[in-house]
Amino acid sequence: MTGVHMTDTLDRDDVARTLDREHAEARAQAEARRQERAALAEDGAEAPAPRRGWRDFREAQHFQHAYLSIGPAQGALLYMLARAAGARRIVEFGSSFGISTLYLAAAAEDNDGHVIGSEYYANKREHALANLRDAGLAQRAEIRLGDALETLGDVTDPVDFVFLDGDKSLYLPVLECLLPSLAPGAWMVADNLDHFDETPGDFRHEILRDPRFTSRLIPVGRGMFSVSRHRG
Ligand SMILES: C[S@@+](CC[C@H](N)C(=O)[O-])C[C@H]1O[C@@H](n2cnc3c(N)ncnc32)[C@H](O)[C@@H]1O
Repeated sequence: MTGVHMTDTLDRDDVARTLDREHAEARAQAEARRQERAALAEDGAEAPAPRRGWRDFREAQHFQHAYLSIGPAQGALLYMLARAAGARRIVEFGSSFGISTLYLAAAAEDNDGHVIGSEYYANKREHALANLRDAGLAQRAEIRLGDALETLGDVTDPVDFVFLDGDKSLYLPVLECLLPSLAPGAWMVADNLDHFDETPGDFRHEILRDPRFTSRLIPVGRGMFSVSRHRG
């Protein structure tokens, strides 16, 4: 058979092994937390956490130690989009333990590109960097430590792929901060669009009506992505 032979970095042993391990850890942690909350609710000690909280990301414990990561179906879509876009300069808002960063770095490996991630907590950044090393992708990504509104402020153009997954109330300010660096035709994916009510001023309302982008909502896995293309 003739044709173009391409390899998927996502299939590489070191990448697949690291992702399998991290997804398993994330699932186990989420299940343990669910059981903890259910037990507390049963004791009447604490009401179950509201599904659509807007808690500040600087509240330790929950945000500092929880994976809060995308699932494998979302990761696969993110990887395929970044790869298909030929993205070489990729920016991520909210890296956590680096699961999504691994998918983006795998696409960067295929595209000869680079990921600039961002994370507020130092322990999470360390864990994410260790994952990138385990997956043999350390040279494809950096993760900036601190508030992304500051750390992503000096990202230089042209950015051709953005993934938003940090504090939901900061999606719009982070987007405005990155806008001058976006290449014409740049792609932007945001997670958790099901957490927004689509009322004026929220990200879902604004991105679907923003003339600078064409956007679609795509339910995937247990969540919902928005996928937007900068009209440039
Ligand atoms: C939903 S999790 C990200 C999960 C990750 N994208 C993944 O799929 O593996 C959100 C992360 O964003 C971080 N975060 C939230 N607001 C931030 C900010 N302003 N600057 C940097 N990190 C932030 C939180 O600490 C948390 O680790």
